[in-house]
Amino acid sequence: MTAMSFIVLISGNGTNLQSIIDTIEAGQINASLSAVISNNAEAYGLTRAKNHAIVTRVIDHRLYDSRDSFDQALHRCIQEFEPDYIVLAGFMRILGSAFINTYRYKILNIHPSLLPKYKGLNTYQRAMENRETEHGVSIHLVTSELDGGPVLMLGRYSIEEGNTLADLEQKGHRLEHRMYPKVLQWLSEKKLQIGNHGIEFEQQVLREPIEFDQ
Ligand code: GRF
Repeated sequence: MTAMSFIVLISGNGTNLQSIIDTIEAGQINASLSAVISNNAEAYGLTRAKNHAIVTRVIDHRLYDSRDSFDQALHRCIQEFEPDYIVLAGFMRILGSAFINTYRYKILNIHPSLLPKYKGLNTYQRAMENRETEHGVSIHLVTSELDGGPVLMLGRYSIEEGNTLADLEQKGHRLEHRMYPKVLQWLSEKKLQIGNHGIEFEQQVLREPIEFDQ
């Protein structure tokens, strides 16, 4: 099976990127990272990529006067690499619908909540304020609706009495670092397939998100 190629888009620390790099290097994902692109030149994730000799690019959104012109620059940059999937890992820019439609069902995102609950920012804080007893992580396809595309995988953890925001963030990150590599592994093995016919997992139409088995 030919190896897939992924591009990872980041804006910050890049711990999810690191977990993907490590899993590829361990031979568990039959894919390569053709590039890591950041809208923020200071993102530590760029250093992580360079440490593993992965090509990096910076497209600073502040140099573009509209979302469209930034998206077009991003598109031109990505075209050079022809990736199978674009993996958003802490990429803090909203992509326009023209860009999203160009890469229809080829863009994945990881979001720190059990979608469709808690779309948007500050999910840990909102879950605590609402006294939720369960929170989690979603990996979903990106569509024009913010955090609204089909969910591929959910990972759950409980919020215990006395848990702090930092506890939740730690539980969330721990799960994220296992979930994203797993989804990419399954895509690279074609165990998970995304196409015009829909989403299939082990040759069955995926009707509900896969529950990440801890
Ligand atoms: C993750 O927590 C993810 O859920 C959110 O952005 C964060 C990125 O963290 N989309 P990192 O840069 O991968 O450490």
